[in-house]
Amino acid sequence: MPNDAVPWSDFDADEYWKINYASVLPEDAEIIGHASKFLLEACGEPAPLRQALDVGAGTNLYPALLMLPWAKHIVFTEYAPSNIDWLGENLADVPGEWHWRRFWNLVADLPCYRAISDPRRTLAAAHEIRTLSIFDLPRRTWDIGSMFFVADGMTGDEAEFEAAVRAFLGALRPGSPTLMAFMEGSTGYDVRGRRFPSVKITQRSLETLLTALPITETSVHRTDNSVRRLRPGYDAMLLVTGITTKRLE
Ligand SMILES: C[S@@+](CC[C@H](N)C(=O)[O-])C[C@H]1O[C@@H](n2cnc3c(N)ncnc32)[C@H](O)[C@@H]1O
Repeated sequence: MPNDAVPWSDFDADEYWKINYASVLPEDAEIIGHASKFLLEACGEPAPLRQALDVGAGTNLYPALLMLPWAKHIVFTEYAPSNIDWLGENLADVPGEWHWRRFWNLVADLPCYRAISDPRRTLAAAHEIRTLSIFDLPRRTWDIGSMFFVADGMTGDEAEFEAAVRAFLGALRPGSPTLMAFMEGSTGYDVRGRRFPSVKITQRSLETLLTALPITETSVHRTDNSVRRLRPGYDAMLLVTGITTKRLE
């Protein structure tokens, strides 16, 4: 199913959050460990401030939290109206329990991260939410970026998946540290009785694609699939880290 045929206006953001992020799953903890190590090496300390982008953020704030020490300003782009509303509510600096503290605690003692005393407030002050399709992203605009489970979880069409990865990388300036996450072997996912599509990828197919893309120093980390999994119907999660290059896409 192509992206524009998917009923994104029926995407139940609260249910998606409940399924995926109500607790910290071992796979996400593993990704957070690898991604933070990569960013610390790629961005260094003291942290130069950058323009950050998280594409198709949905109800996942941890990619943005990972980039927070280096983000002067962070743009969340989304397409589904329910996710736009969810982001508006959940990125506000309001009193009370902050659900994302459990995710933040995984990085809180690391260099650069430990300089942020109130991550909820810092993120609230630094962010902007834009309704924008990945295919309409402006080019070479941001200098650090993340895209988690979007290119492969927004379409069932392989060519469109590849175009989405290219559009994301093309929105970053050359030299930008990049995080991308994908579900390996997924054929789709359910959110409150609605089926959403996936492109079925493998570590190998992803690595082959990456060789043709403007990204270097690329590493693909496959999560340990002996740990408790998010759901049946996929093989592992794949985290790609790398630095965008000038190569023409
Ligand atoms: C599997 S979810 C991933 C959400 C989140 N990034 C995460 O890590 O859980 C796929 C996301 O892609 C978004 N999406 C769908 N079509 C899109 C498009 N054309 N441009 C940008 N995002 C899109 C959906 O609204 C949804 O939030």
